[in-house]
Amino acid sequence: MKGKVVLAYSGGLDTSVIIKWLTNKGYEVIAYMADIGQGSDFEAYKKRALKTGAVKVVVEDLKDEFVKDFVFKALKADAIYEGGYLLATALSRPLIAKALVKTAKKEKAFFVAHGCTGKGNDQVRFEVTIKAFDPKLKILAPVREWELKTRSDEIEYAKNNNIPIDANKKKPYSIDVNLWGISIESGKLEDPYYEPDEDIYQLTKAVDKAMVKPAYAEIEFKSGIPVKLDGKAIGGVNLILKLARIAGDAGVGRSDMIESRLVGIKSREVYEAPAAWALYTAHKALESLVLDRELLHFKEALALRYSELVYYGLWYTPLKEALDKFIDETQKRVNGVVKLKLHKGNCVAVGRRSPNSLYRRELATYEKGDKFDQSLAKGFIEIWGLPYRGAGGK
Ligand code: ARG
Repeated sequence: MKGKVVLAYSGGLDTSVIIKWLTNKGYEVIAYMADIGQGSDFEAYKKRALKTGAVKVVVEDLKDEFVKDFVFKALKADAIYEGGYLLATALSRPLIAKALVKTAKKEKAFFVAHGCTGKGNDQVRFEVTIKAFDPKLKILAPVREWELKTRSDEIEYAKNNNIPIDANKKKPYSIDVNLWGISIESGKLEDPYYEPDEDIYQLTKAVDKAMVKPAYAEIEFKSGIPVKLDGKAIGGVNLILKLARIAGDAGVGRSDMIESRLVGIKSREVYEAPAAWALYTAHKALESLVLDRELLHFKEALALRYSELVYYGLWYTPLKEALDKFIDETQKRVNGVVKLKLHKGNCVAVGRRSPNSLYRRELATYEKGDKFDQSLAKGFIEIWGLPYRGAGGK
């Protein structure tokens, strides 16, 4: 016996094969599953894991924690990677990794394992977080090492070892799902010129099939966090689920990218994140109303940096934690309501109001009641442009 190992188990082929493979190597496998809104049949997967040789299965509902401590922090930061990825998968990894470490402690296991390949970002996110919490834990990554080079090798192994797998063995894509969004890759998408087939999408309608009439959603934020939908108080998890339906039916939330992975590879990634897009759009719209220009621009630069930290697996790091404190300070003013119009793939803020609004109609207006003294502008420009007098055309 080599000892106990806590495996991040998804219920799919890879991690099912891993249970058997580790068992055959002499480990006692504890399968760990976190419910982060992926909609899996946990009972069925539990049975499958036990049948495959796991000595124990642990299932935990982490949806609330995921939303509160990960998703909403990224939302407050307006984090978006390379302009299209709202980081659903990336945000879930540190949470799952932390839970693995906790489970390992509880079960007195010296090993943890995951099913990531050696080519992706997820291995980095898992392992950096595991080591951040317990540098002594040993990490096993069978997919990086084993002899099963292709999917058919794995299926063959599953057959030879009586591992129950889905009848539908053709798995055209690699898909990761949680409450915040879906990530789809590989298969036909590996050709960057190939337009994704419509059937890869689960949450969003195609623009030509989307609702003919525009939908509206009114989102109220308190300190940067969405707390009401259409005037009704609602918890984060339910708000995301509800908004995902509204936005998805309007065809909002798809992105199709060539993405720069941390390990240096360019990869084709397709995402669906209807609620995330809607909330990102609304949150930014509110910030534009309540944050002054300098803070807004500074924060915009931070959003990119923040997205990199999330993407690179650097969630539990001093920089990321310090940035959260800074961002929380900025969010004290981010209170108010944004009206979104969702229609045929577009999501636009068409209305916004806030008790902290910096918008002053008497300054902006071109109508009666103008309080802006235009005569002052002359002097302002004179001094503003002073350093550059005569500097043109050189
Ligand atoms: N490219 C995305 C990321 O690195 C998604 C990874 C998705 N993983 C998967 N098993 N399909 O965050």
